[in-house]
Amino acid sequence: MRLILVGPPGVGKGTQAKEICKKFNIPHISMGDMLRDNVKRGTALGLEAKGYMDEGKLVPNSLVMNIAKERLKEDDVKNGFLLDGYPRNIGQAEKLEEDLKELGMELTRVINLKADSKTLIERISGRRICKACEKSYHLLFNPPKVEGVCDDCGGELYQRADDNEETVKNRIDVYTRETEPLIEFYKERSILTDIDATAPIDSITAEIIKQLEE
Ligand code: AP5
Repeated sequence: MRLILVGPPGVGKGTQAKEICKKFNIPHISMGDMLRDNVKRGTALGLEAKGYMDEGKLVPNSLVMNIAKERLKEDDVKNGFLLDGYPRNIGQAEKLEEDLKELGMELTRVINLKADSKTLIERISGRRICKACEKSYHLLFNPPKVEGVCDDCGGELYQRADDNEETVKNRIDVYTRETEPLIEFYKERSILTDIDATAPIDSITAEIIKQLEE
């Protein structure tokens, strides 16, 4: 199964990706996580990406296209993968098509998670992330068993630098302008499935799995 999860900031891509990948035993390839890992390690790429990320802008195509292509060459994607947060504009989608063709692979499905801006802002403002394993929690909707501590690995929870009100508004604008056109792009290829992402986490997971198993 070769999947893409698309949707605005805070809609629940990361949350759903973890469940889908567990169910179908495929790797979760999150462009945001890979970029944050580079920022944390202080690599040249991370230093270049950080400014864009802090302002809620897209990191230049040349940087992310290269990361994606290298990741798709790794052994663990042979039986499938889930791309979360890549592609994010038409240029990236066309490049992905080209890369997959070169690697002898084709996309199975693109899952489009949909929610209104009020829901997105509510979700992002309460989000906390595990420093060690990147698992995502929400103070109200999906709290950890012990405050500030990850249920899975015991890591410390923190709030992302780009989860402040101003940057979030910018991220939503960038999504509308640059990423939303992908919906039409994948609709034309007949591989798009819309999912109402305003429901509780478990029901969304069940609906995605149902659609993928049909
Ligand atoms: P990235 O990390 O991908 O951020 P994003 O797309 O803005 O998405 P988020 O991670 O904010 O949200 P999510 O949809 O994963 O939601 P989550 O599951 O955590 O990218 C960050 C930055 O990196 C970008 O701004 C850009 O600068 C750069 N970048 C990344 N990819 C790039 C690319 N391809 N090209 C160029 N630049 C790129 O859920 C949110 C919260 O809601 C959590 O607290 C969760 O517990 C809660 N929640 C989830 N689902 C539900 C539910 N159903 N009900 C109640 N609460 C829920």
